[in-house]
Amino acid sequence: MEYVIGIDLGTSSVKALLVDQKGSICGEAAEAYPLIQLRSGYSEQDPELWINMTIKALGRLIEASGLDPEAVTGMSFSGQMHGLVLLDKQHRVLRHAILWNDTRTTAQCREIEAKLGEDLLKYARNPALEGFTLPKLLWVREHEPELFRQAAVFLLPKDYLRFRLTGQIAMDYSDAAGTLMLNVPAKAWSPEILSAFGISPELCPPLVPSDAGTGTLLPEIAAAAGLTSLVKVFAGGADNACGAIGAGALRPGDTLCSIGTSGVILSYEDNPDADYGGRLHFFNHGRADAFYAMGVTLAAGNSLTWFRDTFAPQSSFDELLEALDEIPPGAGGLLFTPYLPGERTPHGDASIRGSFIGLDSRHTRDHLVKAVVEGITFSLAESIRILRESGQQVESVISIGGGARNEAWLQIQADIFNAGVIRLESEQGPALGAAMLAACGLGWYASLEDCADAFVRRAGVTSPNKERVQVYEELFDLYRQVYVNTQALSKKLEKYRG
Ligand code: XUL
Repeated sequence: MEYVIGIDLGTSSVKALLVDQKGSICGEAAEAYPLIQLRSGYSEQDPELWINMTIKALGRLIEASGLDPEAVTGMSFSGQMHGLVLLDKQHRVLRHAILWNDTRTTAQCREIEAKLGEDLLKYARNPALEGFTLPKLLWVREHEPELFRQAAVFLLPKDYLRFRLTGQIAMDYSDAAGTLMLNVPAKAWSPEILSAFGISPELCPPLVPSDAGTGTLLPEIAAAAGLTSLVKVFAGGADNACGAIGAGALRPGDTLCSIGTSGVILSYEDNPDADYGGRLHFFNHGRADAFYAMGVTLAAGNSLTWFRDTFAPQSSFDELLEALDEIPPGAGGLLFTPYLPGERTPHGDASIRGSFIGLDSRHTRDHLVKAVVEGITFSLAESIRILRESGQQVESVISIGGGARNEAWLQIQADIFNAGVIRLESEQGPALGAAMLAACGLGWYASLEDCADAFVRRAGVTSPNKERVQVYEELFDLYRQVYVNTQALSKKLEKYRG
């Protein structure tokens, strides 16, 4: 029996997943690393920690499996999207990576819009949003010109990790789509966008498909990780593309709800001309010549982590969510908006911040937790609403990530989305998608669909409850008004944030 490893380089941790040829999960190991948040809206990470923690996780994974290292023959990656990693000529990191949830680049976004106008949607298929890579590149050029002059190439987080593991520089289409420099339908760096901002094409790495071979493990890395240098390494994809692959969202209309640090609603598309008018992100899928439309809640799981760390540091997430069922919809008249770092979909607003509306002295911690969970889910429902307004029927949604591990939250998703929520048997998130890319790269399966048929098993569907759907429709209307009514206040509070 042979094995592959899927590595998901997330925002709070890296997870390594060991999978055999039949799709059975044979082991998993994760290692955490911190965010660096020097100011409100800033979010950075030290790329060296990604490398150290990945090698540590791999070492633990292999040791615990007791496998002969030669049995592991392939590896691929899923990664947090958009983060800017700048390298000099010797391929040394020039500064900490600026991450997807860093929202310091509003001025650069306005500059991009002013310069490109409608051409931006034509080529990049996406609007200028603070989290994307091009605004980050422009920010560094403006604020750290000395450093920018030394930049020879930029990479995204998982591409930097792969480079350190193999010595090869490459970026796959699904991740490149989130840079705002890729012509998404043409799958090539956009000469129009690059030249509009005087960005040298040499700064952009070579592009490859997600299942492309990108070398083998460097001998010193293989030795440190307990593997052999014969492991074939495949490019991998953006975490949301890999989440879709790992959930089997590979056919038109398949819709996914993924709750990690961020939360996304993603819908598979095979039409490169599908038009969402920029209201949803439109990226290349990890499956060849496919795409997806996606709405993003910046702080989904992150809102719950913030709440736990701040108000219940001794509690596990399971303990925190224990009473979800006991508190009725609407959390006793309490609404939460999860705009902790600003928001992407549907507002594209970096200065908005979150709020609890309706606090009452009868409220307990459990009411606040229920409001947080409902608020995260309402925020995701905004993306489902856009999909439906664009003519898509969303009758069912595959749920993965934190929200899929709790029965009560699955029911809340079904009731708020007014859709059946599909649960998977062994939900492994984007790391499984990465493992599937390696499995296909090795030729174990002829296509990702064949691989999904073998690897991904559905466990059942949570159906919406008619009465609660109605209550949540009313509450959703109120939830949507919170943004409208707090937008100006948030803007005025900006100068006090530090
Ligand atoms: C997607 C996005 C996030 C990150 C999280 O556009 O920014 O979902 O990929 O890792």
